[in-house]
Amino acid sequence: MLRIIDYRQISGITSPTQVQYDNLKKDMPMATNPPAGPVAARFTDQVAIVTGGAGGLGHQICLSIGAEGGKVAVFDTNADAIDQTVALLNAGGTEAVGHLVDVRDHGAVTSAVAAVATYFGRIDILIAAAGGSLATPRDLADIAPADLDLVIDVNVKGTFNCAQAVVPHLLRAGGGAIVTFSSIGGRSTSPVTGVPYAAAKAAILGLTRRLAREVGPSGIRVNAVAPGLFLTGRLQGMFDAMTEADRTEVLAGIPLGRMPQLQECVDPVLFLASGQSSYITGAVLDVNGGRFMAG
Ligand SMILES: NC(=O)c1ccc[n+]([C@@H]2O[C@H](COP(=O)([O-])OP(=O)(O)OC[C@H]3O[C@@H](n4cnc5c(N)ncnc54)[C@H](O)[C@@H]3O)[C@@H](O)[C@H]2O)c1
Repeated sequence: MLRIIDYRQISGITSPTQVQYDNLKKDMPMATNPPAGPVAARFTDQVAIVTGGAGGLGHQICLSIGAEGGKVAVFDTNADAIDQTVALLNAGGTEAVGHLVDVRDHGAVTSAVAAVATYFGRIDILIAAAGGSLATPRDLADIAPADLDLVIDVNVKGTFNCAQAVVPHLLRAGGGAIVTFSSIGGRSTSPVTGVPYAAAKAAILGLTRRLAREVGPSGIRVNAVAPGLFLTGRLQGMFDAMTEADRTEVLAGIPLGRMPQLQECVDPVLFLASGQSSYITGAVLDVNGGRFMAG
């Protein structure tokens, strides 16, 4: 049965003239950012694993997949946040399980993925959102070998581990979709992040393309999303610490002239995960208000 969800009553997208930071903060609670309009349920009876699903964008992706009929497995390293996310999903009528798993741990990822397949009977979608610069330094001289390892291991190896573990289950389901997380920092030179993050997020694009080529004949699509700056809890503090002049400069570099709501990244991710993008694979979708435009 087709279910229509109308989120517009919750809030509207801010217009380009309403870019004041204070208003922006006020309008951006983590779990209630709305998409632009009504959407049909695209994930009825499908099973999605969302890594990093207990925080930031991943959390919002879990809620949105659930709101569109999907069943959700939340993979994260934050036990309390997993519990809260699963409870929120269950309260909204979504079947959900949480797994405390570090995506760097190949064995743990493989076991958790197998447990999800056993519990739900199938896996259709992987959203590999776990990642970030993980509080490592930005400037070259300050970056320790352990910082480089952490950023590469979580972002690149973590994405690889999850994709490798999930693909056999997608094959069993007759196909599926994987969405990886690059970044504007992997597409261009973002002043906000350092060399390890740029390298990791560029590597994810290579991983995405090569994997898409390998599994495409089996009906599995693999695409990357490359977000600009989205003020999840992680980045809110950084934005808070900036001067008014710096914030104005950030906005001046965004042709759409405003900061985004979280749902404006979630919706493109859901598009790539859904049948609406059935002939798209190996692609990268820039979601940055025009701050970086690919040639
Ligand atoms: N927010 C942005 O502006 C932005 C911009 C570009 C790219 N991205 C990418 O989007 C993704 C999500 O970003 P976010 O801002 O929502 O991040 P976030 O920090 O708000 O949430 C990340 C989640 O991943 C979990 N996590 C961290 N390490 C993990 C590990 N080893 N194993 C399993 N889970 C782990 C955290 O506990 C957290 O719940 C990341 O890959 C990030 O690099 C975000």
